[in-house]
Amino acid sequence: MFNEETRLEQPIRWAMVGGGRGSEIGYAHRSGASRDNNFKLVAGAFDIDADRCRDFGTSLGVDPERCYADYKTLFEAEAKRDDGIQAVSIATPNGTHYAISKAAIEAGLHVICEKPVTFTVVEAQDLKRLATENNRVFGVMYGYTGFPMIHQAREMISRGDIGEVRVINMQFAHGFHNTEVEKNSPGAKWRMNPEVSGPSYILGDVGSHVYYLAGLMTGLEVEKLCCTRQSFIKSRAPLEDNAHVMMNFTNGAVGTLWASGVNAGSMHQQKIRIIGEKASIEWWDERPNQLSYEVQGEPVRILERGMGYLYQDEPGVGHNRIGGGHAEGFFESWANLYSRFAIVMKATDEGDQKTIDNTWYPDIDAGIDGVRLIERCVESADDDAKWVKF
Ligand code: NAI
Repeated sequence: MFNEETRLEQPIRWAMVGGGRGSEIGYAHRSGASRDNNFKLVAGAFDIDADRCRDFGTSLGVDPERCYADYKTLFEAEAKRDDGIQAVSIATPNGTHYAISKAAIEAGLHVICEKPVTFTVVEAQDLKRLATENNRVFGVMYGYTGFPMIHQAREMISRGDIGEVRVINMQFAHGFHNTEVEKNSPGAKWRMNPEVSGPSYILGDVGSHVYYLAGLMTGLEVEKLCCTRQSFIKSRAPLEDNAHVMMNFTNGAVGTLWASGVNAGSMHQQKIRIIGEKASIEWWDERPNQLSYEVQGEPVRILERGMGYLYQDEPGVGHNRIGGGHAEGFFESWANLYSRFAIVMKATDEGDQKTIDNTWYPDIDAGIDGVRLIERCVESADDDAKWVKF
């Protein structure tokens, strides 16, 4: 069971850049960060519009003087205060992540950044170098990875319960963008603009999530891939709203990834199926408390979160906030991740290397890998689906 008494003596003084009123993902950050009282929201540059930032920030209980017009002013002004911020979460459109993250690390802050962390691998590697040199934590918000059943799957695979992995089927294919919704939705509009979104739309927006799940669960790395991508809504070109990727992994396993925003009628369809030599496991984000375990020749077993037959000793599996049978969801997953971010930030500040080494979280390497996926897929797709080395 998640131990709510294991928390920091003092919450980390925390700010957000982006995530303003009406944003898609701002509330998820605030909900995850505040759940266990490990972070306290004390400042922010929440919005591209300064007045809206102040109005929204004060409505959240932030001192109006600490609702800043932009991130540069936020970092400068907070650095001058005795009670200035210690960490920041960045939930702005993709094209701003690199500059804001860089400025945050240089201001001495721990960073939690949205994905994709940058447009290029070189930029993401630069952030890793900066974070390392400045001894700062860099977390990346792969928000589905706090679900206990993801960690159960990881444990099962590493303990050999399905045998050697042969095939990985990944998909994150929703239907919300099957028409030109960007005409009326600012959040969709920037996603279709390469200057703000980056070299890809759907692969980066959703494909990177399930791709990261595959690597986390199996520990496998891609050796080479080939990709084809389309813009079914023509005005979105050159950015794709649908993509298929084939992958070869270093252990000889193969995989496919389908990322789509035009899967009409579908909600998320984020599913991952990992096929080993003797059994398969499958997880679906719309039913995150269950994991399907299918041994060849036996009836399908649906494993349920919170049950004693799981690998409860593994902290990621045992992070139950309520017993099995009750539905835990997206916000619990985010709170689990924010709890890990807090633990590792404190350990970093105190030089507690043992805790750092023993606390898994999606870090800058995860961010780099996600950007590499996008870069390689675009390279392949734009060269007639050529196989490219990863
Ligand atoms: P959005 O368009 O709904 O909201 C963006 C917010 O950032 C708005 O409040 C806007 O005013 C503010 N903003 C824009 N530029 C800014 C700047 N320079 N300084 C301060 N504030 C600024 O976008 P959404 O959907 O919330 O996405 C934000 C980021 O989160 C993206 O990188 C996206 O890929 C990622 N995301 C991640 C999810 C996850 O599951 N981890 C889910 C949804 C989005």
